[in-house]
Amino acid sequence: MEFNDVVYGRRAVNFFDPRRDITDGLLRQVLETAAQAPSSSNLQPWSLIVLRDPDAKMRLQKLAWNQPKVSEAPVALIVLADTDGWKPGHFFVEKNFREMVQAGIMDETRRKKFDEVCFSLYGSSQERKIAFACKNAAFFAMGLMLAAKNFGLDTHPMDGFDIDGVRKEFHIPDNYWIPLLISIGYFRSDKELMPSKWRKSYDEMVVRFDQ
Ligand SMILES: Cc1cc2nc3c(=O)[nH]c(=O)nc-3n(C[C@H](O)[C@H](O)[C@H](O)COP(=O)(O)O)c2cc1C
Repeated sequence: MEFNDVVYGRRAVNFFDPRRDITDGLLRQVLETAAQAPSSSNLQPWSLIVLRDPDAKMRLQKLAWNQPKVSEAPVALIVLADTDGWKPGHFFVEKNFREMVQAGIMDETRRKKFDEVCFSLYGSSQERKIAFACKNAAFFAMGLMLAAKNFGLDTHPMDGFDIDGVRKEFHIPDNYWIPLLISIGYFRSDKELMPSKWRKSYDEMVVRFDQ
C-alpha cells in the first residue's frame, strides 16, 4: 500500500469480523514490522500479551468497559511498557549493550557512562520511568497499527480499561505499565465505518512559549 493510504486508511474500527482469524505468521509479520520503531537508546521497552482464546478475551473485555471489540476481534493485545527497561542487569539492556559493542558502535569502556545516562534520562524518578516506558511503547503501538493496515488488517486502540484489574487478572508484574490494549482483525464488512474524525491543523499544532 502507498504510505498515505496506510496513514489515512487506518481507523479505530468498532466492528471486527469474528469469523475471520489472523494466522500466527501474519501476526508475527505485523509485530516484527512494528518493532522497527525507534526507541530511547534502542532499548525497546515494549512487550505484548497476545490473547486469542475466547475465554481470555472475555476476561479482558469485562475489565475494558465491556467493549465488544475486545472479544469480537480474533486477537486482543495487551501492550506492556517496561519501566525497568533501562536498568543495568536487565536482560534486554545487557543484550542491547552487547549488540552495540558487536556492531562496533559502542565501546566496553563506555559502559559506566551509558548506565549513568540511562539512569538520569529514564530511571531517576517515577515520572521519568513511566515516560520512558510509555513513549517508546506508544511508538511501537503506532507502528503496529500502521503495519496492520499495510497487511490488510484493522485495529482499535483502547485505554478504556481498569489497569489494576488487568494487571491482577493476567498476573502482570509491577515493572510494567499498561499504556493500551489493541484489538486486531478484519473489519466487519456489513457494518459502516464512522466518518473520519477532525485533526489539528498545522497552525493548531505549532506553538511557542518564549515570545
Ligand atoms: C491511546 C488510545 C486509547 C483509546 N481508547 C479508546 C477506547 O477505550 N475506546 C474507544 O472506543 N476508542 C478509543 N480510542 C480510539 C480513539 O477514539 C480514536 O483513535 C480517535 O477518535 C480517532 O479516530 P480514528 O482512529 O478512527 O482516526 C483510543 C485511541 C488511542 C490512541
